[in-house]
Amino acid sequence: MRSRSALLLLLAVCAGAGTGLVRADGGGCASLSQECSTSPPPPPPGTCIPDGDAWAGSAMTDCCGGYAFGAYCVCVPVGATAQQSAIECCTRTTAPSSLVCSAASPPPNPPSPPSPPRPAVGNAVCFGFGAFLQLGDGLTSDSSTAVTVSGGHTFTEIAAGAYHSCGLLANGSALCWGFGVSGQLGNGLSMQSSTPTAVTGGLTFTQIATGSGHSCALLANGSAMCWGDGNSGCLGVGSYSNVDIPTAVIGGHAFAQIAAGGGHSCALLANASAMCWGAGESGQLGNGLNSDSSTAVAVSGGHTFTKISAGDIHVCAVTFNGSALCWGSGGGGRLGTGTPSPSNIPAAISGDFIIQGISAALGAHTCAILAD
Ligand SMILES: *[C@@H]1O[C@H](CO)[C@@H](O)[C@H](O)[C@H]1NC(C)=O
Ligand SMILES: *[C@@H]1O[C@H](CO)[C@@H](O)[C@H](O)[C@H]1NC(C)=O
Ligand SMILES: *[C@@H]1O[C@H](CO)[C@@H](O)[C@H](O)[C@H]1NC(C)=O
Ligand SMILES: *[C@@H]1O[C@H](CO)[C@@H](O)[C@H](O)[C@H]1NC(C)=O
Repeated sequence: MRSRSALLLLLAVCAGAGTGLVRADGGGCASLSQECSTSPPPPPPGTCIPDGDAWAGSAMTDCCGGYAFGAYCVCVPVGATAQQSAIECCTRTTAPSSLVCSAASPPPNPPSPPSPPRPAVGNAVCFGFGAFLQLGDGLTSDSSTAVTVSGGHTFTEIAAGAYHSCGLLANGSALCWGFGVSGQLGNGLSMQSSTPTAVTGGLTFTQIATGSGHSCALLANGSAMCWGDGNSGCLGVGSYSNVDIPTAVIGGHAFAQIAAGGGHSCALLANASAMCWGAGESGQLGNGLNSDSSTAVAVSGGHTFTKISAGDIHVCAVTFNGSALCWGSGGGGRLGTGTPSPSNIPAAISGDFIIQGISAALGAHTCAILAD
């Protein structure tokens, strides 16, 4: 049912010659109101009804329903919508013998853009901040949904640094993409790349880690290779220079797991002892000192760990009994020791937890997975 106000509107429209709203067909409002057909006189047949006004909106709808009242405006041709321009009315000069007011046919669906091929098993996707090409999709755009890393590569491992990313292929080859001005892509160039580029040397890696401006990876025999920003000594190569191809961490250490942080790196030896190298100003080398080292130093305390994670300026590691120890900056409480104080030796996180996994953020927090 039309509302009373719509009815009044229609009455007003029909009666209101001064509104400029006129009947297309020139007919009177018949049963609705004699005033329409007598005062003022009906407009000549074919007179246009102004578009974009109440007539075209509610009144046009009223016209459709309003035919029952004898207001046989020509409303909508078959297939048009009730809101279709009143100009449509101009094409008719006679009232229809019966009202043709079809349901609006939905506009044809626009052709959907071709969907990108669905990534295959092992393809990499990235999402987030993309200004440094770190999403690997060839673009600098941010993306809040996953975009496929270009090249169709099949990865077995992936690592996201601060502004670059790296992955390992099934054959152990490493690829990196994103920000590269410090050499952190390891491809012999000091420039960014929007798509994965091969790490130089044809080396076969078993694990890869990405930090703020550097990357490290392990060879099958446990030797560590690092590349990228060497400013703080985090490449472990005995110097503080950047290198843009994989360079061996000196000392002949055989590692089982490696982690790259803000300006430091840490790794677990085959016997589960931890070593770190690089920036040490916050105690993040865990050796009781607060100085940088460009070669690997042993973490204090003789602890053995199952896992190690390097954050921006802290490190956390899980012991064999499920405790977790952290060292470095305590800012924000990231060491979990109950105070925001730094520690340059491993300090136990407080709480009666048994932990199986831990991740020290490139920001200022830490997360862990509990074991049962
Ligand atoms: C590993 O596989 C990639 C892609 O198939 C190939 O380009 C690369 O040369 C291979 N690396 C080695 C060390 O065989
Ligand atoms: C591991 O292999 C590399 C390359 O073959 C070699 O240079 C390095 O000395 C080896 N490392 C160890 C710990 O044996
Ligand atoms: C592990 O090996 C390193 C290097 O050989 C050694 O310095 C360290 O004491 C060993 N750690 C343990 C717990 O045996
Ligand atoms: C677990 O191991 C750590 C490091 O080795 C040690 O400090 C701690 O006392 C041990 N905790 C328990 C409950 O044995």
